[in-house]
Amino acid sequence: MNKFEFFEIIERYHTFKNPTSEEKLDLATDYCAIRDGMRILDIGSGNGWLLRRIARRFDVRITGLEIHHTFAEQARSMIAADGLRDRIEIVLGPALDFRGAENSFDLVMCIGASFALGGYDNALGWMSRRAKRGGTIAIGEVYANRLPFPVEFASGEEYEQRNLWMTAQRLSAHGLMMRGMVESSIDDWNRYHSLHWRAAMDWVLENPNRPEAAELMNAARQRMDLEVDGRYLGWAIFVARNGMD
Ligand SMILES: C[S@@+](CC[C@H](N)C(=O)[O-])C[C@H]1O[C@@H](n2cnc3c(N)ncnc32)[C@H](O)[C@@H]1O
Repeated sequence: MNKFEFFEIIERYHTFKNPTSEEKLDLATDYCAIRDGMRILDIGSGNGWLLRRIARRFDVRITGLEIHHTFAEQARSMIAADGLRDRIEIVLGPALDFRGAENSFDLVMCIGASFALGGYDNALGWMSRRAKRGGTIAIGEVYANRLPFPVEFASGEEYEQRNLWMTAQRLSAHGLMMRGMVESSIDDWNRYHSLHWRAAMDWVLENPNRPEAAELMNAARQRMDLEVDGRYLGWAIFVARNGMD
């Protein structure tokens, strides 16, 4: 099973694909101070839940970049059903192929997809270049809640060494001034993973005799979901102004 098929199966019940809540996404949106007329870019837009939420409230132009064909199609059909086609465009393909002009967006968002831009630091650089001076970026990102990671879980990922303060400080290294933060709770992580577990289990029940069952209902991954996510690993949306001039 390739990773596109894997995520399509285990994220089948997710409206948004991150350990957060509708209320927290609304709060992060408030911190972004969106106004009518703004241009917004969203990297890794998934099925477009947040984009549709924003476009229902504001007369804005939003571009979502999404590599997964099914997620992009789901987003497009819900955008059409909501009558928002004149406000939101979904561009299918790798985010790094996007050729939109620099300094041209009022808000650049990347909610849980910094890997699509080459990791957290590269994402901050890329996003700050696409945002106007005085514009806003919003990035949902993981960080280490507790250090060190237990050796049985350590994978060598960069975030395992980067605590909350270090994650926030990287913003200023890119000329980004933090003006809001929304952090995930254990309940947010549990909701996120419960949807994964249910989707995996339903797929296995619907597809008996398929060899993917072991990969989908994997005890080692469920242990990481329980013991690492939300405990050793935190997640937050950071909202920052692009420059002080
Ligand atoms: C954790 S999900 C977050 C989705 C969405 N932002 C949300 O909060 O629901 C990450 C998304 O990034 C997309 N993605 C992964 N690599 C990408 C890339 N190179 N370019 C564009 N999108 C990418 C995935 O398909 C997925 O929809």
